[in-house]
Amino acid sequence: MTILVTGGAGYIGSHTCIELIKDKHNVIIIDNFYNSSPDVIDKIEKITGTRPKLYPISLLDKKNVKKVFEENKIDAVIHFAGLKAVGESVEKPLMYYRENIYGTIVLLEEMKEHEVKKIVFSSSATVYGIENNPPYTEDMKTDAINPYGYTKVMIERIITDVCNSDSQWKAALLRYFNPIGAHESGLIGDNPNGIPNNLMPYIQKVAVGEQKMLKVFGNDYPTPDGTGYRDYLHVVDLAIGHIKALESIDKFDGAVPINLGTGKATSVLELIHAFEKASGVKIPYEIVERRTGDLAVCYADTKKAETLLEWKTKFSIEDMCRDSWNFINNNK
Ligand code: UFG
Repeated sequence: MTILVTGGAGYIGSHTCIELIKDKHNVIIIDNFYNSSPDVIDKIEKITGTRPKLYPISLLDKKNVKKVFEENKIDAVIHFAGLKAVGESVEKPLMYYRENIYGTIVLLEEMKEHEVKKIVFSSSATVYGIENNPPYTEDMKTDAINPYGYTKVMIERIITDVCNSDSQWKAALLRYFNPIGAHESGLIGDNPNGIPNNLMPYIQKVAVGEQKMLKVFGNDYPTPDGTGYRDYLHVVDLAIGHIKALESIDKFDGAVPINLGTGKATSVLELIHAFEKASGVKIPYEIVERRTGDLAVCYADTKKAETLLEWKTKFSIEDMCRDSWNFINNNK
């Protein structure tokens, strides 16, 4: 199949492109490199031996998005492109709604215009909001507490309504938990510009000396060691989840939300210690105040992914830490 991947140079997008190419799909990438770099395309080529076709454009650029559909016979779309920093979304809500919501509408309009009716969407466990209790199941009511989260809730709604309007449309709304780790080659991984918001990229920066000390946001949560518990999954497992979603999408009835996680939770302190063991590097940390909006515990119920997609994670926390370390150690 020919698959259009928006945000294909990003962290999850690039790993997914590799799995698609390995599976003999023809990959076309749209990316404006807002939070990624053009050399990721070279690295995808180095790993797979195939260079994906690239359109270095924004999804807001309707004229050029139209051209992508006119110039290629696309079978399905995997839609990663979007802004993802929670704090920034609180400061710049209009930018988030414009980029994420309007970008998706342009994409869906062009898909409709060109009769492309299959989409895999990059959603997030953030849509479970703060009222539900883990393990999260896909039938729970969705909600959000910041503009970034609302864009995910709204895009899920928009795609669902498009599917409801035409029974030929099929969509997988993939709700990611906490992807970490990197490709085994050490060539691609998560390396955000500036000071990272997420735990693993921050640990990586401390490991290579770019940050002095990790701040642990709170140790007074009602959890066994008092720190936050999250469902970390290896980014390669996550990428394979997208392939499984594409393979199963024809049997879907409209838009189907599916959790992609391991179903197990790991604490901040446990992750730090696992990373120290995998890397042999000490990670100095200090306990600070809780971060606003953080949950104590977040993990997936994985039954739906197992039955519907026949997908299950294979990599352990040790594998994730080894590969995160290998990547950052290769790219410091
Ligand atoms: N944490 C720290 N120090 C840091 C960064 C994080 O102690 O410097 C802690 C957090 O408090 C939390 C855990 O590490 O307990 C994980 O935090 P992340 O920021 O890595 O991940 P979150 O679970 O907060 O957020 C992720 C995604 C969001 C998504 C959310 C819910 O990054 O996009 O999951 O699905 F909204």
